Amino acid sequence: MANHGRLEGKICIVTGSTSGIGRGIAELFAREGASVIIAARREDEGARVVKGITDNGNVASFFQLDVTNESSWQGIIDYTLKTYKRLDVLVNNAGIGFLKPIVETTIPEWRNVMATNVESVFLGVKTAVPVMKLNGKRGGSIINISSNIVYVPSAMNGAYCTSKGAVAAFSHVAAVELAKDNIRVNIVYPGFVNTAILDVAYQKAAETGRTKEELMAMFGESNLVGRIGEPIDLAYPVLFLASDESGFVTGSDFVIDGGEVWKRGGADDALAKDAR
Ligand code: NAI
Repeated sequence: MANHGRLEGKICIVTGSTSGIGRGIAELFAREGASVIIAARREDEGARVVKGITDNGNVASFFQLDVTNESSWQGIIDYTLKTYKRLDVLVNNAGIGFLKPIVETTIPEWRNVMATNVESVFLGVKTAVPVMKLNGKRGGSIINISSNIVYVPSAMNGAYCTSKGAVAAFSHVAAVELAKDNIRVNIVYPGFVNTAILDVAYQKAAETGRTKEELMAMFGESNLVGRIGEPIDLAYPVLFLASDESGFVTGSDFVIDGGEVWKRGGADDALAKDAR
């Protein structure tokens, strides 16, 4: 695929980038000239993703990051400064799905979802911003991955939906607070995307006799485009937000869901009873 140099010279951290959407983002960023830090827990998978990128002549390295851990975050920021001398872009992508009725959700389960999906974003911004500030006028770009579930809530998503709503609220505040430092903060809300995070939904569907293929087809029917998303569908909008092309964009909401918000918003919401 062509390299247009849209991120030429930029140093970018992408969390949870050994799989799914994060991997798609990291690979596209690298193709567009960025030096990408694959920030994830699994070292073997990380090495595989880095090899794929460097074999194509592009730049990436792996750093083992647990997004729930503050000293782990300080570690990756120190590593980035030492190795690449600065940080331009942070994509807070890592997250977990969780599917349970509200009354059955335990406090440890609730807190785990909040720690992984919300505290992670807070810690990422808190540790990255002091380094991004050193860029002066060049500034930086932070992209936080929420979910379109914030706009189209469905049953059994109490903890998950709340966590993604918190990501959005936090990001709006961060955009206001960091504008003076030339740091832009934007939010991306994916719809159904074909990644491992949907495995839990497939397992639930199996309990009621539905196959993965049937559920995937339903996910496709839930939006106006008529298919489930792929990681690259999310990677391109995130690329725009990471690049200088989006210099006039901050605090903004990007729902990338094939138009699911519009289709499911109506009275014919066929999926209303189906959990994600
Ligand atoms: P995925 O499961 O492939 O990716 C999530 C990644 O986050 C995994 O690599 C996982 O290991 C990593 N991760 C989880 N906990 C972590 C931790 N403590 N430290 C470091 N890494 C950790 O799934 P996907 O879909 O690529 O998810 C990416 C983001 O997109 C998530 O924030 C998810 O909530 C969001 N999203 C995904 C949707 C979908 O349908 N696939 C829909 C809406 C939002």
